[in-house]
Amino acid sequence: MILVTGGAGYIGSHTALSLLQNDEDVIIVDDFSNSDKRVLENLEKLTHKKIQFSELDCCDEQALEQVFIKHTISACIHFAGYKAVGESSKIPLEYYNNNITSTLIILKLLKKYNAKRFIFSSSATVYGSPETSPINETFPLSVTNPYGRSKLMVEDILRDIIAAEPDWSIGLLRYFNPIGAHESGLIGERPNGIPNNVMPYISMVGAGKLPCLPVFGNDYDTHDGTGVRDYIHVMDLAEGHVAMLAKISKEVGLSTYNLGTGQGYSVLDLVTQFEKVTGQKINYEIMPRRQGDIATCYADPQKALKELGWKTTRNLQTMIEDTWRFEQDSQGKSR
Ligand code: UFG
Repeated sequence: MILVTGGAGYIGSHTALSLLQNDEDVIIVDDFSNSDKRVLENLEKLTHKKIQFSELDCCDEQALEQVFIKHTISACIHFAGYKAVGESSKIPLEYYNNNITSTLIILKLLKKYNAKRFIFSSSATVYGSPETSPINETFPLSVTNPYGRSKLMVEDILRDIIAAEPDWSIGLLRYFNPIGAHESGLIGERPNGIPNNVMPYISMVGAGKLPCLPVFGNDYDTHDGTGVRDYIHVMDLAEGHVAMLAKISKEVGLSTYNLGTGQGYSVLDLVTQFEKVTGQKINYEIMPRRQGDIATCYADPQKALKELGWKTTRNLQTMIEDTWRFEQDSQGKSR
């Protein structure tokens, strides 16, 4: 059985769905600090399976150990964690405690219960301010905020573990910018309050829930001056985890992959495409650059293609259509 921590959250829920659709047995643990219990009902609707789940905080070792006692866990995919870059600079202690302590506890339990297989949600943020794009996995690592540092620290911990105990199977997945939702419109991203990330923001402007998108800077060295990122459909990302699980189920060692499309789009590209796909006007206003942002960041995804046989199949139009379907289906339901 695969333990999916944070399995009610955005990437976790889509990955749990992919795993269940691939006939894996899954147990979700989540404390619902940034997710909603209705996600579990919707996963049941989509899979016609009973979802196994336990409400707990992964920093609660005793509660988590109960899951290992009750179920035969063979691997863990660890999504649970805090993820807001700006907030991490305001409450670093909470970020380090939550993101690192939970990982240490999970690793300890995986070892104790003889299931040394682990997939970690890392981030393209560990590349800091890369000199060029596309970015491959050998680029130098650096970080500028506590959120990013917590990701890099866990990566370092995992590299130390594999050096000392080579019988672990570990996958480090560095996500670029996940957007979109499952095509059913039943699960998607539901940020609390005003979104930090650009696509949920655009979607709320499209729905009339926010008046205007702030565009953070139009003087970057990019084709239209606004920031360029590698937006990846969350279901493509989910399928990357299924491919990674196949690898760690048969091989020991640690391997690291970028999960991105290899294609960059600017903020204004997103706005234009969103208007075209949905027919909604997106009002925007050019604002000063956001602190810590870089001009351009997109992946070289070749390593994942070569070694995992994984590549993205959904384009920007599909990402926007699915975002919009979820936005409309969730109108009035919970935000
Ligand atoms: N942007 C706006 N207006 C907004 C929000 C964002 O113009 O309201 C711009 C940003 O300046 C940037 C682009 O949209 O150019 C993307 O910004 P996001 O906040 O959506 O995403 P980031 O690339 O800043 O960060 C994301 C994740 C991080 C992760 C990082 C890895 O949120 O968790 O990718 O590259 F670390």
